[in-house]
Amino acid sequence: MESRYDMEELKLPVIADKTELYRCLTEQVKSIVGAEKNIIANMANVSAAIRQAFGFLWVGFYLCDNDEELVLGPFQGTVACCRIKFGRGVCGTAWKLQRSVIVDDVDKFPGHIACSSYSKSEIVVPVFRNSKVIAVLDIDSDRLNAFDSIDKTALENMVKIIVND
Ligand code: SME
Repeated sequence: MESRYDMEELKLPVIADKTELYRCLTEQVKSIVGAEKNIIANMANVSAAIRQAFGFLWVGFYLCDNDEELVLGPFQGTVACCRIKFGRGVCGTAWKLQRSVIVDDVDKFPGHIACSSYSKSEIVVPVFRNSKVIAVLDIDSDRLNAFDSIDKTALENMVKIIVND
């Protein structure tokens, strides 16, 4: 039967290495975002897609609300803090440094903001529009050392798709 919807469910390989899973996911995210310009809608779908693919503890976005703080945006996971100051926590640090930050062990990151006691490692990737950080993608894992340069490269590529100018 023909679907009433334009979009089908994510199709992800059962056995795949991380690089292959990201490749597969990125292709589908491109198609899900399509011509959609609304960044909130795109962030919502990308959060859901990444969490479904990898089963991370928390996946979501914080948006630059002004020049001083981030505010919680679309996410998948348990409730989280609403506002993070520029330069604070992993998210505020990635914003300040304007680059991705990987934290192998959150207990060893000075100023880490704990939204869940289950979070063990984290990656934060800035989202740029016209060379300015407008948001960050934050992913928490319940495992130590969950993120490496493969995640960094793939996620930096993924966040470019949602800024559909
Ligand atoms: N750990 C983040 C705060 C956000 S939660 O992880 C969802 C940080 O240190 O910036």
